[in-house]
Amino acid sequence: MNLHGWIIYNGNLPGNKFLDFAQWIQAAATRKNSTTTIYKNNELLSYLGIGQLEVLRQDKNKLPDYVVFADKDIYLAKQLEYLGVPVFNSAEAIDISDDKIATYQRLAVKNLPIPRTIIAPKIFVSGQLDKTTVQLAMESLGFPMIIKESFGSFGEQVYLIYTEEELYKMVESLQGKAFMFQEFISSSYGNDLRLQVVGDEVVAAMKRSASDDFRANVTAGGTMTAYKPTQQEEKLAIAATQAIGADFAGIDLLFGPNNSPIVCEINSNAHIRNMFDCTNINVADYIIGYILNRLN
Ligand SMILES: Nc1ncnc2c1ncn2[C@@H]1O[C@H](COP(=O)(O)OP(=O)(O)O)[C@@H](O)[C@H]1O
Ligand SMILES: [Mg+2]
Repeated sequence: MNLHGWIIYNGNLPGNKFLDFAQWIQAAATRKNSTTTIYKNNELLSYLGIGQLEVLRQDKNKLPDYVVFADKDIYLAKQLEYLGVPVFNSAEAIDISDDKIATYQRLAVKNLPIPRTIIAPKIFVSGQLDKTTVQLAMESLGFPMIIKESFGSFGEQVYLIYTEEELYKMVESLQGKAFMFQEFISSSYGNDLRLQVVGDEVVAAMKRSASDDFRANVTAGGTMTAYKPTQQEEKLAIAATQAIGADFAGIDLLFGPNNSPIVCEINSNAHIRNMFDCTNINVADYIIGYILNRLN
């Protein structure tokens, strides 16, 4: 049976990285004889009435057999699921992956290794600084410590804090945002692993190193090299993917003491172009293969 898919991407973000991902998925689908239509998320409007859910769109094409959801528009993903369309990744998996605090909570519940983390209490009044919170975080984690915003990417919302003074300043500047205090895994300084999981398999992996920053993904001077993960690393990456209910994900692992892996982040919409440039492995083929297999 020839299955028709929709590929939905964020049409509002600058740059063509997101369209690029959609086109890679489309090419992979074409290779497997599945026709696809690419939509920007804002070309599809979720309509709600009493007992009535629809996706309004200019063309009157019927709903697809599957959706590859390369965006974070959770309401749209959920609307499609309510309409009975299989969505990859699911709205819930994308939602948890997008929110680092929700991700660490899920990983902790599943007994998977993560850096020790303290979630900053939600404070609605700006400018109010809770000294006991900061003191408790300091006592528990020590210095240097990581402060990380729950929503962020490219390492831009991750901070390494050395002193009490810096800590107070940072906490003050983050009021109103969701963030956490986190143990700094010093053995991983400037290095991490990216493992790409599809289904219950690691299909590609690379090591990332930054020459002059604690964050491995900082592009200035950073390098990517193809990597052969250990069994322990593979097992952890697959378990982390399953912990948030994702069908596929790019898992960031830190190097803990004795090289034991620690989960740093789960990316439900990982950049597969970088992985291809580094390893020559086209993850899109695996993603489409997995989806078509699931549906047949
Ligand atoms: N707890 C930590 N200890 C040591 N390094 C960390 C820690 N958390 C993050 N990093 C470094 O910072 C980078 C970015 O952090 P990450 O949580 O993956 O956020 P982003 O979504 O911005 O990539 C990681 O790739 C890693 O190199
Ligand atoms: Mg990351």
